[in-house]
Amino acid sequence: MTTEMRPTAEIIGRDDINDLEAIMSVVNTDADEALHAVHSNYDTIFTWDYEKGQRPKLDKLYEKAKTAQWNAQTDLPWDTEVDQEQVVIANAVATGGLNSGIDVSGTSLSSWGDPEWIDFGVQSQNWTLSQFMHGEQGALVCTAKIVESVPWIDAKYYAATQVMDEARHVEVFAKYLDDKLSGHYPINAHLRLLLDDIIADSRWDMTYLGMQIMVEGLALAAFGFMHQMTTEPLLKQLLRYVMSDEARHVAFGVLSLQEYYAQLTHAELRERQEFAFEAAVRMRDRFLQQEVWDRMGVNPKEIVPILAQVPERQMFQSMLFSKIVPNCKKLGLLDAADGWLRQKFTELGVIGFEDWADTGEEYDSMQATGTAAAS
Ligand SMILES: [Fe+2]
Ligand SMILES: [Fe+2]
Repeated sequence: MTTEMRPTAEIIGRDDINDLEAIMSVVNTDADEALHAVHSNYDTIFTWDYEKGQRPKLDKLYEKAKTAQWNAQTDLPWDTEVDQEQVVIANAVATGGLNSGIDVSGTSLSSWGDPEWIDFGVQSQNWTLSQFMHGEQGALVCTAKIVESVPWIDAKYYAATQVMDEARHVEVFAKYLDDKLSGHYPINAHLRLLLDDIIADSRWDMTYLGMQIMVEGLALAAFGFMHQMTTEPLLKQLLRYVMSDEARHVAFGVLSLQEYYAQLTHAELRERQEFAFEAAVRMRDRFLQQEVWDRMGVNPKEIVPILAQVPERQMFQSMLFSKIVPNCKKLGLLDAADGWLRQKFTELGVIGFEDWADTGEEYDSMQATGTAAAS
């Protein structure tokens, strides 16, 4: 049986996944919005089967989560002095200079000296941490939804611990932004579209796929990159703690969906593949940081096409998929339905990660707190 091919334009709103003009035309048109409502239409499921441990791997994850809790206010060295400009300069040393060695001659950036590049680095950090914070709120809302919609008691128990984890993550990123950095950014339009789609979908497994596998899989890779690069001790420890929680969260997605996807039809799997592809494209698109260029007074359309050609940047962007691709493979999504997702990930240039370690069990070695802390 073959499934009807949905055209790329219908899934992501454009034909060419690399069409920069189209990507940059997606902007946040209501940056002053204080509340954002998304209508969701799903069944809240009660189960009367309370037998704990029917799904031993989820049960183990739940028990682990109980002992790995930490307190955002008291477990981190908040009295650390952070000089944001010095942090930018230290990062620049690691990445080949303040402008990352990019050739900007002939553009409006050719007159930039160190002060402008440092300011850009500061804004870029404010933007990145702001998007982490918004994404964490997305995870908070999604896992609350999973508590309601998933039919298994072991999954409801585990998801409840994740709601607490995500509250803590929103809290730490908001506090870090307020106390140590120099300004917030509104949510990026691509990220918001993705969160809206995940929340609005009525099927419980789509919440898992969008959040646990895609958003959190990318977050785990992005946090890992920043954790490795930063020399700022507070941020380093904060990320270490958050990552140890995130590794459990991604494992929760892999372990739950593995069982569920094994019984889906070809057509149902194709819908999951399309959803995963759409999420992947939206997440990649947000990393163009168009809002930072706007705030620096530079037209993103002038500079983004140049940056998109820089090999280090392309490598960073594809590294963000280093957890997502193996996890999709483990779920059987790469090769289901005639290998549709394999083909799409090939077009995105990330298929090379398919045999990297998946995140089904990684959480054990990543635990940073509690009774079984690794370090
Ligand atoms: Fe989180
Ligand atoms: Fe998470």
